[in-house]
Amino acid sequence: MSFPIQRPRRLRRTEALRGLVRETRLTTAGFIYPMFVCPGMNVRKEVGSMPGVYQQSVDQIVEECREVESLGIPAVILFGLPESKDPRGASSLAKTGVVQRAIEAIKAAKLSLLVITDVCLCEYTDHGHCGVVEHGEVLNDPTLEILAQQALSHARAGADIVAPSDMMDGRVGAIRTLLDGHKFENVAILAYAVKYCSGFYGPFREAADSAPKSGDRRSYQMDPANAREAIKEVALDLEEGADMVMVKPALPYLDIIRAVRERVDVPLGAYNVSGEYAMVKAAAQKGWIDEKRVTLEILTGIQRAGADMILTYHAKDVARWLKN
Ligand code: PBG
Repeated sequence: MSFPIQRPRRLRRTEALRGLVRETRLTTAGFIYPMFVCPGMNVRKEVGSMPGVYQQSVDQIVEECREVESLGIPAVILFGLPESKDPRGASSLAKTGVVQRAIEAIKAAKLSLLVITDVCLCEYTDHGHCGVVEHGEVLNDPTLEILAQQALSHARAGADIVAPSDMMDGRVGAIRTLLDGHKFENVAILAYAVKYCSGFYGPFREAADSAPKSGDRRSYQMDPANAREAIKEVALDLEEGADMVMVKPALPYLDIIRAVRERVDVPLGAYNVSGEYAMVKAAAQKGWIDEKRVTLEILTGIQRAGADMILTYHAKDVARWLKN
């Protein structure tokens, strides 16, 4: 049966009809808002390439968390800008580290927000790589213990979920074992299982001061040309004990989000990364695109591709738009 019996336009006539038959309903319920914690008091410094995103001291982080919660966003993910850096990222383990103190402060404020922490070394090492470096090579196995200790320090401070983003092999298993050994069996792991070596992380590296001083991340992050390998990375992380997995970035990898969604049943996240955010903000500032319309279209697309959770710097803007 086809035209004139079939008329798809019948269901597009009014907003009420379109709303009734809409397949993807964008909500804030799966949003995770990324935040950057720095030392000091009363510090709130906007990131040049990411309008609306700030490097903030713990007191300011707590204030913004109140706002995030009141907007109906269920979770934040924290990144740290430490006071000092060294070759092994020792400052990432300190009980008094920026991220550890931020977790404690958010929990002390009795917010119901879920606190997720990014587990990685690049923000804490003086060379800016995500693992220990020797003779120009990023070493895998010696990095695992440091990552696991970092995750444990986050759990001790009160983190609900830890999210390893380093892309070392075996880190999910190392983290799960150490957490369980210290009775943190209820702290969940959201693995950055599929993380591509992407140019879209540029603005983040300004925000987190985490650009590698030499070389690049190609020996540990995935080649953008590979899709089958994504399925393998997901399978390995799930075998090691990941509760949830993530694909990152989101926009150039919607096919990967869809492929992972079709193969596994665990909750799936997608990271709408800094460069994706910066492009929208810059074009909107120039008046070249309609920011609200484009942002809602992008996030709907990521959800439609199969993401249950979206890590996005647009979270607060979108929450406001969806309320009105
Ligand atoms: C690594 C990490 C990165 C991002 C999240 N975790 C950067 C990198 O791998 O260089 C990027 C997030 C973004 O671009 O928004 N700790």
